[in-house]
Amino acid sequence: MKKQNLVIVGGGSTYTIGMIMSLIEEKRHLPLNNVVFYDTNEERQSQIAQAAEVILREKYPELNSFRATTNKEDAFKDADVVFVQIRTGGLAMREQDEKIPLKHGVVGQETCGPGGMAYGLRSIGDMITLINDIRYYAPDAWILNYTNPAAIVAEALRREFPDDKRLLNICDMPAAIMVSYAKMLNREIWDLVPEYFGLNHFGWFTNIFDKEGNKLTDELKQAITQKGFLPEDSEIANDPSWINTFKQVEKMLNDFPDYLPNTYLQYYLYPEDMVNKESVDNTRARQVINGREKRVHGLADQIAANNSTEGVELEVDIHGCYMIRVAASLLYNNRETFIVITENNGAISNIQDDAMVEVPAVLTSDGPKPLAVGQIPTFEKGLMEGQLAFEKLVVDGWYEKSYQKLLQALTLNRTVVDAPKARAILDDLIEANAGYWPELKRQVAALQ
Ligand code: G6P
Ligand code: MN
Repeated sequence: MKKQNLVIVGGGSTYTIGMIMSLIEEKRHLPLNNVVFYDTNEERQSQIAQAAEVILREKYPELNSFRATTNKEDAFKDADVVFVQIRTGGLAMREQDEKIPLKHGVVGQETCGPGGMAYGLRSIGDMITLINDIRYYAPDAWILNYTNPAAIVAEALRREFPDDKRLLNICDMPAAIMVSYAKMLNREIWDLVPEYFGLNHFGWFTNIFDKEGNKLTDELKQAITQKGFLPEDSEIANDPSWINTFKQVEKMLNDFPDYLPNTYLQYYLYPEDMVNKESVDNTRARQVINGREKRVHGLADQIAANNSTEGVELEVDIHGCYMIRVAASLLYNNRETFIVITENNGAISNIQDDAMVEVPAVLTSDGPKPLAVGQIPTFEKGLMEGQLAFEKLVVDGWYEKSYQKLLQALTLNRTVVDAPKARAILDDLIEANAGYWPELKRQVAALQ
């Protein structure tokens, strides 16, 4: 197997150490020649990189080299595969995305509703620049992007890079959910074969099979409605917020028993509940700043100071393993099936071709080959089309610098609906995102 050169963009992310542990765990599937971290924030990255160096030295002696850089050429020139995880505006702006809608009584979430729109409008420009930079130095590298809000970012990249076959957007949520399925079914996640359709953070598992072809869907639904549903992946299993989110799956399944819902549907199906549960001063971003961020930075400092991982608890989570197996399937033409975000082109036959959908696809060296889903039912189709229109209008709004398109987007969104409320939220978001969003043109209505 050819050893690959991997670049992690966003080396300073709180997820990077977990990713390093996954690279070690999965080295049989994706043997590496070198690992490079790239970030625009040198200080933040170097703290994580110092720890990564120790971990890799101890647990990945076969690795040829590791380095962290803020220089694009140095980062990308020999890349075979690039993992992209950037957050324009950082967790501080995530907190604004969550707080501002909440103040108007609307769901405050980093990828759903107004918060998702705000984050999308911040991310699109940086993502386009980044992909251009990577392509300049590494025209053939595989780019696996899991930058959020993935649905909006993927739609913008589809428009900007229509012919780029080696650019793939993915999300780990379906895999994180499948870890819980596997636990309930007493199986390994890699033994499960899902049928799934939707948009990113807006989809449904229609069936779960095992590799032998046994259908496990009914057994699973029954288990969830009888025993409830919990996160099992190490990254989220003990997190109260994720425990609450996973519990909602039981409720969704009771209300809408046809399919097994993605956890993110809670924000669209129970927006009032979600608003009532939240407190403006302790939204998810604040919890992550006080929780995961502190924990990861503490852990990194400890490893660097001791020059050893001894006594430090380092866990492998599904997020990294999933990305690595996805990359391996593309690089080695393994033709394994994973749930990814890809252009519909008929996969869901009653959804428009140019939608970026989330479906299982066979991952080959010629790119993802989505599996046919066929026709989807009216309820899910109706929900999806509203959300899809929202996502497309947000991207239109970015390209056209159009206040009007963004107002339409928010009014269409299930978490908002009311036009005056949409306008009030939009105006607050514009103010908070000054310097991040394009300067919007305010059209005066043509009344004649
Ligand atoms: C899941 C989603 C990601 C999202 C993350 C947020 O993994 O698939 O898209 O970024 O959750 O988790 P957090 O713990 O930061 O709220
Ligand atoms: Mn996701």
